[in-house]
Amino acid sequence: MRIPVIAGNWKMNKTISEALDLVNDLKSRLTNVDDVTIIVCPTFLCIKSVADALGNSNIHVGAQNMFWETSGAYTAEVSGEMLLEAGAEYVIIGHSERRQYFGETNETVNKKVKKALALGLKPIVCVGEMLEDREAGNTEKVVDDHLTNGLAGVSADEMKNVIVAYEPVWAIGTGKTATPEQAQEVHAFIRNRIAELWNEETAEAVVIQYGGSMKPGNVKELLAQKDIDGGLIGGAALKADSFEELAKFNK
Ligand code: PGA
Repeated sequence: MRIPVIAGNWKMNKTISEALDLVNDLKSRLTNVDDVTIIVCPTFLCIKSVADALGNSNIHVGAQNMFWETSGAYTAEVSGEMLLEAGAEYVIIGHSERRQYFGETNETVNKKVKKALALGLKPIVCVGEMLEDREAGNTEKVVDDHLTNGLAGVSADEMKNVIVAYEPVWAIGTGKTATPEQAQEVHAFIRNRIAELWNEETAEAVVIQYGGSMKPGNVKELLAQKDIDGGLIGGAALKADSFEELAKFNK
């Protein structure tokens, strides 16, 4: 049984005080949700304050990126060790915006994933095709490339701590959601590839989230699909009322 995971990727939004307003509101709205893993991923700057405010509540904290070295002359980078001490339990790795604007590659994704796992931080690894890939019929090829190279060398045991987020780039922030059928098709492909690359048991255990314009109006349909186990949500995670509806999708 996979427990659904609803995660908010706040991207470059919210000052510390705005972040605290949102999580304090979410904390009271979501106290009774015990059948969904809820995660918020603020900017690095807000992680400590948000984690402190959430304390032992049922809302977990993730970062949006990390570097694979522990410390040193890497101006502006943040290490996994720093994230853990600040209170993060999860870390998004290889988001398409990192790949598009900041030169993230499968190789850098792989180094970050391995370091996160070694530290006990749970990586949320993003995979997904661009519109031109889909139009050229290359969706599975691109997703497979992200999956096999981004997760190369990760053991079956470690895979149980990995979340995969399928995010078609053409659906991110565009209001265009993949249809539940389109998303399910790729999720099933990912789960089959996990079974081939590791084993059946691992494939059954790994949570595969969908991301890309997920909102209260489409969450139920998407999560009703057999292989869609949660959501990585941008825009709709920035407001307490819509994130509450998302986290309570099964109520
Ligand atoms: P969106 O972003 O929900 O605003 O489309 C999703 C994401 O980029 O993780």
